[in-house]
Amino acid sequence: MTDTSLFSSYALGDLTLANRVVMAPLTRNRAGAGFVPTALMADYYAQRASAGLIISEATQISQQGQGYQDTPGIYTPEQIAGWRAVTDAVHAKGGRIILQLWHVGRVSHVDLQPGGAAPVAPSAIRAETKTFVNNGFADVSEPRALALDELPGIVEDFRRGAANAIAAGFDGVEIHGANGYLLDQFAKDGANHRSDAYGGSVENRARLMIEVAAAVANEVGPQRTGIRLSPVSPANGVATSDPQAQFDHIARELKKLDLAFIHVVEGATGGPRDIAPFDYAALRTAFGNSYIANNGYDRDLAEARLADGSADLIAFGRPFIANPDLVERLKAGIPLAQIDPTTLYGGGAKGYTDYPAAPTPDA
Ligand SMILES: Cc1cc2nc3c(=O)[nH]c(=O)nc-3n(C[C@H](O)[C@H](O)[C@H](O)COP(=O)(O)O)c2cc1C
Repeated sequence: MTDTSLFSSYALGDLTLANRVVMAPLTRNRAGAGFVPTALMADYYAQRASAGLIISEATQISQQGQGYQDTPGIYTPEQIAGWRAVTDAVHAKGGRIILQLWHVGRVSHVDLQPGGAAPVAPSAIRAETKTFVNNGFADVSEPRALALDELPGIVEDFRRGAANAIAAGFDGVEIHGANGYLLDQFAKDGANHRSDAYGGSVENRARLMIEVAAAVANEVGPQRTGIRLSPVSPANGVATSDPQAQFDHIARELKKLDLAFIHVVEGATGGPRDIAPFDYAALRTAFGNSYIANNGYDRDLAEARLADGSADLIAFGRPFIANPDLVERLKAGIPLAQIDPTTLYGGGAKGYTDYPAAPTPDA
């Protein structure tokens, strides 16, 4: 019988993972000048290398794709070199790490955009959400609608980001299709009022996401490519009238591309898991390859969902912030340390690399 426990190994696409605990992507706003990953970031990720798989913090594929201060990029040679130190540090400890490819779309601020321009979006509809910029939280700026002839450039930026991630030593990539960022904005009709081939029907609203997935999979291989989805999450002010039809369609299209995994935020990101009805089992079946579940998991729920076959891997976000040795703690039943909410976004080592591992029992 297959061992489905959290601490059993798993073959994800081309990768063999030591366990089924995934570190979810976590933005921490600590990149250096030029949005280059730092040595401190390499320490942080290496501390968490006992995860079966680390998914990096969301990483912008272009300056236009940036929506928060001091988030890292993957579009310059310096950024690639900075990430290389991170992947080397994780690999030296036997870990696996993939990069989350990010375009924020309308969740941005003119102070972060090239030439102070308006952020881009499917439609010129401002999100009711805030961004972290100029060392504080501020309303996002009014966006402009992307022209049809700009969309191939967005796809190309994702493709280039994926190629750069592999050049930086990552084991694969996750496309950020969740949480109200650009690809989720296109998919959801609350943010997408277009009347061209990228708006209106379920098929049209999925088009940009699928084109990006195809271009990335073609670049780095489908078995090194996954995508994050959040069908019913209201994160960053998105809403849609038909999540089940929309995301079942997306899952079927992703299956045709033979992507390695979908990574699903079940419910409201960081909030209630039952915010809206949704049949995740249908999504999993429509896709067919590996399914990473996220949102509000603890060890008991994780073991239950692995055992009943609803998921292959479980991603933990907040628990990894204060528990670099989360895998060991879950395994030994050691209580989890709590987050310091004041050091989540920005700053240095405090609240980042100074959370200790639990003392070993005989220490
Ligand atoms: C500080 C912080 C930063 C986050 N950054 C990202 C991110 O960069 N990309 C992403 O897809 N989700 C991000 N999330 C959402 C988490 O990946 C995850 O979905 C959420 O915390 C729910 O999982 P959990 O209950 O295990 O924490 C972030 C969450 C937090 C708390």
